Amino acid sequence: MKNEIKLQDKLLEVRSEGRAILAVNFYNLETLFGIMLAAQEMKSPVILQLTGKSIEYMGLQTAVSLGRTALKQFNVDGWIHLDHGDSVELAHKCLDAGFDSVMIDASENALSENVKITKNIVDLAGMYEVNVEAELGYIAKLGQSKNHTGFTEPEEAKFFVESTGVNALAIAIGSSHGFYKEEPKLDIERLEKIRNMVDIPLVLHGASGIPGVTLQKAIRNGICKINIATEVKNIFMQTLKNELNNTNEIDLRKVFPPAINAVAELVKSKLEIINFVTN
Ligand code: 13P
Repeated sequence: MKNEIKLQDKLLEVRSEGRAILAVNFYNLETLFGIMLAAQEMKSPVILQLTGKSIEYMGLQTAVSLGRTALKQFNVDGWIHLDHGDSVELAHKCLDAGFDSVMIDASENALSENVKITKNIVDLAGMYEVNVEAELGYIAKLGQSKNHTGFTEPEEAKFFVESTGVNALAIAIGSSHGFYKEEPKLDIERLEKIRNMVDIPLVLHGASGIPGVTLQKAIRNGICKINIATEVKNIFMQTLKNELNNTNEIDLRKVFPPAINAVAELVKSKLEIINFVTN
C-alpha cells in the first residue's frame, strides 16, 4: 500500500521544520534490509531509490514489491523513487508500477530541451499525482569529470521551475556522484540565492563523502532531500569481501548479515546527521 502522505507534501513539511529526508539507493534484498533496520531503529522516514540499472537487475515488479513490502514489514514511513530516470518510457513504467516519485534527469541537454523533457514528465505524472524531481546544472555522474563545473544559476532555476511545474529540483552546488578525491566544498551562498528564488524542495545529489557539518549547513540553507548511494555500495561490498576472505561458509544467510548490519550502521549515522540539524 502507498504512503498516505504524498512525498511532495512530506518534503514541504520537513522543509518547514528546517529538516530533510534521507534518500538511499538499494540494490538487492540485503542493502534494502540494511536501510530498513536503520530507519526502523531511528524511527525515521526514508526514501527508497531505484535507478534504471537496479530496476533492470531486479526486475521492476520485484524491485517495487520488495521496497513496498519491506516498508510495511519494518513499519517504516517511506516512499519509492526513480533515481535519474533517463526516458519518458522508464518514468511511465515506474508510474504504472506504483512509484511515489520519479526523477527525470535531462540535465545534460540544453536548457530548453531540459525544460521540454521535464515538462513532458510533469504532465504525464500529473495523472498519477506523484512527486517529480528534475535536475539543473552539472553534477558529475559516475565516470564523468569532476573538474568540469556547471553550477546551477539561480535565475535559470527560477525559469526552469516556472516553465516545468516540477515538484523538486536537484541543483549543482559542488557535489558529484561517487568518491571524492578531496573534501567537497558546497557553494552555500549559491544555494541560498536559489532558495530565495525557487520555492520548491531542493535536492542534494552525491552526498556520499560529504562531511556531516556540511550536510547540516546545506539543510539549514534549503536542501530537504539528501541522496546517498556510493557509501552504501562501498560498505556493503567491503564488509562482504572481508567476510568471504575469512570463512568457507556456504550458507549465505550467515555470510550476508554483517554486510547488512554495516549498511544499517552507515544509514543510521546519516540519519543522525540529518535528524539533528539545529538552527
Ligand atoms: P552518491 O553515489 O555520490 O552517494 O550519490 C547518490 C545520488 O545522488 C543518487 O542520485
